[in-house]
Amino acid sequence: MFRTIEWLDDGRVQFVDQTRLPLEIKFIVTTSHERIADAIRAMEIRGAPAIGAAAGMGMALAAVESNAQTKDELLRHLERAARTLNTRPTAVNLTWATDRMLKAARGLDGTASEIMSALIDEAKEIAEEDVRMCKRIGENALPLIRSGWTIQTICNAGSLATVHLGTVGAVVRMAYEKYSNIKVYAAETRPRQQGARLTVFEFMQDGIDTTLITDGMIGTVFREKRVDCCVVGADRILRTGHVTNKIGTYTMAIVAKHHRIPFYVAAPTSTIDMATRPEDVVIEERHPDEVRIINGQYVTVPTAKVYNPGFDITPPSLISAIITDRGVVRRPNEERMKQLFDSSAPGRVKASSCD
Ligand code: MRU
Repeated sequence: MFRTIEWLDDGRVQFVDQTRLPLEIKFIVTTSHERIADAIRAMEIRGAPAIGAAAGMGMALAAVESNAQTKDELLRHLERAARTLNTRPTAVNLTWATDRMLKAARGLDGTASEIMSALIDEAKEIAEEDVRMCKRIGENALPLIRSGWTIQTICNAGSLATVHLGTVGAVVRMAYEKYSNIKVYAAETRPRQQGARLTVFEFMQDGIDTTLITDGMIGTVFREKRVDCCVVGADRILRTGHVTNKIGTYTMAIVAKHHRIPFYVAAPTSTIDMATRPEDVVIEERHPDEVRIINGQYVTVPTAKVYNPGFDITPPSLISAIITDRGVVRRPNEERMKQLFDSSAPGRVKASSCD
């Protein structure tokens, strides 16, 4: 797979327009942080780690665009850019990245132009870190996945949702590399179809046996024992172990528990928010037409009342383990989530198989 987003040598940012996939692979190149903000809003760039990396690069572009002569002037531009880039409320990676860039800028000494070039390095580092974290997620997941398993997923937490490789993408790809007989079931993920459009596309590109199902088929697929475990991504994981992810994840976790199917969450530590309480998570409510319209045609009464939350929250009681770049938190709770951050060495929280 190509990189979802990258900083080019000539100072422009290139990203793939995910709204066109899988029918067209179109790359967009920009020097404007406002264009990056629009891309995040329109979901041309989507997936928690990918929008984090995009926001980092957006901040670096804003620094260059500002033409600021002093550090104070630059900081004012960056604070404004951070507000512009924070276009989606649920995935914590977005504010995590803009806060990290702001903190870096505030802590840097030197001329405005020296600070700008340091911010470009910081944005590139956010992207490189993301690639490394995904790789470690895949490595940490290996003891949990057995030869011949079929993995159920939802939405897209693959390469496209990150800079490269993916979170669920890393788990599937590294298990596939090891056993070569790993299969995937992808839930289509109404209404934006990230499962059908993106997950199926990228796993098929890698030659991985992938079966597409509609979201309503999950119960039947689990009852018929067609899958051995679920692995899903996350947009925000709380200190309590609650996981916010694409709408439908919670339902899948309930059905998995009923059928005693291990339910794993794969996410980088940049997705963990140790400050917010479950009741304070803002769930993005998206436009009603996403539900009313399919392929440009109304499939209901055009004025039909619609409820369209983009995400849901799965409680830790339904989660077998959270697989991160630092290690695996089995049966997550507040104490175990804290241990993850207390452990200085990556992988200190050891992986072990779950019920
Ligand atoms: O609305 P989206 O497509 O940005 O939602 C993406 C998801 O819910 C993913 O599962 C999540 O961001 C994890 S990506 C590694």
